[in-house]
Amino acid sequence: MAKLAINGGEPMVKRALGKSWPIFDEKEEKALFEVLRSGHWWRGGLEPSESKVSQFEDRFAFYSQAKHGIAITNGTQALECALKAAGVEAGDEVIVPALTFVATATSVALVNAIPIFVDVDPETYNISPQAIEDAITERTRAIIPVHNGGYPCDMDAISRIAKKHNLIVLEDCAHAHGSEWKGKRCGSLGDLSTFSFQQGKALTCGEGGIVLTSDAELAEKAYSFMHIGRVPGRPFYEFHRVASNLRMTEFQAAVLLCQFERLDEQIETRERNTRHLSEGLQEIEGIEPLVRDERVTRWSFYYWNFKYREEAFDGIPRDRFIEALKAEGVPIGVGAHGEPIYRNPLFQNMNFGRTGCPIKCPLYGKKIDYRETFCPEAERIYEKEALSLPHALFLGGKEDMDLILEAIRKVRADTDELRK
Ligand SMILES: Cc1ncc(COP(=O)(O)O)c(C=O)c1O
Repeated sequence: MAKLAINGGEPMVKRALGKSWPIFDEKEEKALFEVLRSGHWWRGGLEPSESKVSQFEDRFAFYSQAKHGIAITNGTQALECALKAAGVEAGDEVIVPALTFVATATSVALVNAIPIFVDVDPETYNISPQAIEDAITERTRAIIPVHNGGYPCDMDAISRIAKKHNLIVLEDCAHAHGSEWKGKRCGSLGDLSTFSFQQGKALTCGEGGIVLTSDAELAEKAYSFMHIGRVPGRPFYEFHRVASNLRMTEFQAAVLLCQFERLDEQIETRERNTRHLSEGLQEIEGIEPLVRDERVTRWSFYYWNFKYREEAFDGIPRDRFIEALKAEGVPIGVGAHGEPIYRNPLFQNMNFGRTGCPIKCPLYGKKIDYRETFCPEAERIYEKEALSLPHALFLGGKEDMDLILEAIRKVRADTDELRK
């Protein structure tokens, strides 16, 4: 009789693990009704002390150890806004990791600059400092380190490279609300940073984003790019820049302020649970947590990455293991993105519209063909190795971790059946 659930056996996990996401209670309901009844659904006309958007900007910037926060409609547009504020323009190259969500790269093209993909460090799945250094040209203007799965990038090495080559560092913190590198929060480690508050993220209002910086001039520019080119202290109908409307609503901020109250406790619960799970995984040959650099003093995450070793599983492909574990009731994946982002049709078909801009922009003048891009580590990680679990799975008790371990052990013990 089959034991594994994938072959018709009894699944190991017969209930939902962790917590259902998003989490809310009457605090969010009250806050939303308050905004509704106030008649102030956007920040316009409100003093900063009255606006939920302004309050959230201040609180989240302070929490992330940055001086200024500019709330934005979503994380993609936050990246675009930050790049514009940093003066990234046509003809500039911006170095991005191959292993991230597509917005890290498309935001670069949306400001008419050129995304340059580089490989990741196989130990952390984060952008490789050596690969950054190797990709720098006379056109490089900025680097976007993504704290992938909330694991902080090696910001010591990246800051050193940026300083040496006079480059802007824009941290993409979409996965890393509250993570820390040597006791300093992600979001405060570069010139600017961005976060996403989209529904799946560890801090959410459905859709939302923010730009953080401790530089007053960059903050003023980001504000202007968020607000159709307005400048603080000038008449309302005076516009200074070509800019869009990226304003967050009071409703979004009202939800974020409530969600924010729970963030630290949730991070602590996740830390506790990942420690327990990591310890248990030490005993299971072929499944490995990422090695935690001692400079990672706090690891908040959107999804938790770990590794599969095909050799230790008698050559059974990682995807077969995933199917088997899913059948056992564990919602496992490979990280949100599934393949290096240059593999998307956008880049493989060089689909940059009639004119080919910004890639064929005469201001750039160089030839680039993304079909030639190949980052071996990112390719291998996605094809064979990466495993991930979503953050809400880690919001339950230790017994949930034990169930996950049991399910993995069960599949591990039956590689013969897995082969069927
Ligand atoms: C690394 C990364 N950057 C940027 C974004 C874009 O954020 P949003 O979905 O809020 O536009 C995401 C979204 O998943 C992301 O994972």
